[in-house]
Amino acid sequence: MLRSVILAASRSATIERLVATAPFSRDVVRRFVGGTNIDEALTAAAALTGAGLTISVDHLGEDTATPEQASTVRAEYLALLDGLGRAGLAARSDVSVKLSALGQRFDEPVATEHARAICVAAASVGATVTLDMEDHTTTDSTLDILHALRVEHPDTGAVLQAYLRRTEADCRELATPGSRVRLCKGAYAEPESVAYQSAIDVDKSFVRCLNILMSGPGYPMLATHDPRLIAIGEDRARWFDRAPEEFEFQMLYGVRPAEQVRLADEGYTMRIYLPYGTDWYGYLMRRLAERPANVAFLGRALRSRG
Ligand code: FDA
Repeated sequence: MLRSVILAASRSATIERLVATAPFSRDVVRRFVGGTNIDEALTAAAALTGAGLTISVDHLGEDTATPEQASTVRAEYLALLDGLGRAGLAARSDVSVKLSALGQRFDEPVATEHARAICVAAASVGATVTLDMEDHTTTDSTLDILHALRVEHPDTGAVLQAYLRRTEADCRELATPGSRVRLCKGAYAEPESVAYQSAIDVDKSFVRCLNILMSGPGYPMLATHDPRLIAIGEDRARWFDRAPEEFEFQMLYGVRPAEQVRLADEGYTMRIYLPYGTDWYGYLMRRLAERPANVAFLGRALRSRG
């Protein structure tokens, strides 16, 4: 219930204005966001890679409304990849891309071309690209674009969300040799018709999907902070004889940082999703929705303005 209220607020321009200008926001944003521009993102990236972690850098922003904005997002990613290359960080880097930021909602072919240009730039510096998954109305389009990109860039990563009822079937489809698939629970408010609603059903689906991916020939990327699911991931790696370089764990910047380092120290590949930019509102609200303890922040922010 609380989760859906916060996710609904993530689409409200009024609440966005209140949160963006609240005195508490800066500290919370700093916890979850690695900077406002490329230079700050590179500094955060260097700190993470220096601690033995790998990264997937995300330029914050979604639901682009104009072709000009979409071209600006593409240019930002090209500059980011150039920066990662120059800083010597590319080999430990992936970039996460939201197709809606590249114009997917109004021009799918143009979004595909922008994503292709980002894949070319990533390949030229030795990094990879993963297509974030957004709400369920975009799943088919995102998977179509993924398949188009994989013709020339087979290492392009997919994201599948365990809360969707369709995801087991998608896991079977994408569990092909070399296929990079990030499995996460899913962060959007989705209707009962397409998504499991209870935490236990989502967890069970996550485990069924994890079993498919870990037993298949692809490269699973287990994106969760959930201690139980991480333990099951480690167990399946042993059961299916997967070496540490044959799958990876992923977590979000600022969430369970000690656990991130612990898993890296155990010898696992641990990739941190590192968002940066000024358009942090939607991302931050999804993080708050995941953890009721964080919601106190929202209440304080609203009270201080109201
Ligand atoms: P869950 O939310 O149940 O959390 C388990 C435990 O982790 C909590 O009890 C708490 O201890 C800790 N925790 C989790 N979130 C926290 C937070 N915000 N603050 C503090 N502690 C927290 N989703 C999506 O729809 N599309 C996508 O493309 C992606 N991409 C993605 C990449 C990566 C690398 C990660 C880790 C996650 C995503 N997600 C995503 C988000 C994902 O779907 C999900 O919403 C979050 O990871 C939270 O789910 P958990 O599996 O961590 O479990």
